[in-house]
Amino acid sequence: MAPDPPTPEELPETCRDAIFEYSKHVMSLGGLLFELLSEALGLKSEILESMDCLKTLVMVCHYYPPCPQPDLTLGTSKHSDNSFLMLLLQDNIGGLQILHQDSWIDVAPLRGALVINIGDFLQLITNDKFVSVEHRVLANKQGPRISVASFFSSSVLPNSKVYGPLKELVSEENPPKYRDISITEYNEGYLQKGLDGTSYLLNFRI
Ligand code: OGA
Ligand code: NI
Repeated sequence: MAPDPPTPEELPETCRDAIFEYSKHVMSLGGLLFELLSEALGLKSEILESMDCLKTLVMVCHYYPPCPQPDLTLGTSKHSDNSFLMLLLQDNIGGLQILHQDSWIDVAPLRGALVINIGDFLQLITNDKFVSVEHRVLANKQGPRISVASFFSSSVLPNSKVYGPLKELVSEENPPKYRDISITEYNEGYLQKGLDGTSYLLNFRI
């Protein structure tokens, strides 16, 4: 959806207007969240936006069909997101879980609420001050389940910009935990590996 939005004709007519309208709100909420996250790091409120965290928005609309034998499979297997931040709109079916202290915790749908996920790139540039959350989606007999995942920074556009732990967050006592990496290089390996349950970020740990 950003920086190069699709033409209206490229989107299904039934949800065309809604997608453009929703993406405007996601961009403005994203801007606010990056400001708050910058301040939470004790840095200038513009720092994350100035690093182009808000520049690329990819919207992925998921359709999980009802599953007759949900115990035998998953809707989406365990992963963390290859983005700075992800804003998730989910319907009332449920099934999203996050991994917390080795247990899977349900993220129950709450009408009118969005789920905000920290992604791998925010973990990288904050040198682990923010940690990306591992999550998965269970298969479900009810359904279909529909969700809309809005990712800031993406796998689709080439982006050779190099990212590493923010200089402001590292010191002699707290050295960089990751080496610098371009988003394109990250995405290539991330997608090649697939959602196999392992963290791709660990490959860049110093
Ligand atoms: C994703 C994701 C969760 C969901 O797209 O990366 O984790 O509820 N989606 O569909
Ligand atoms: Ni995800």
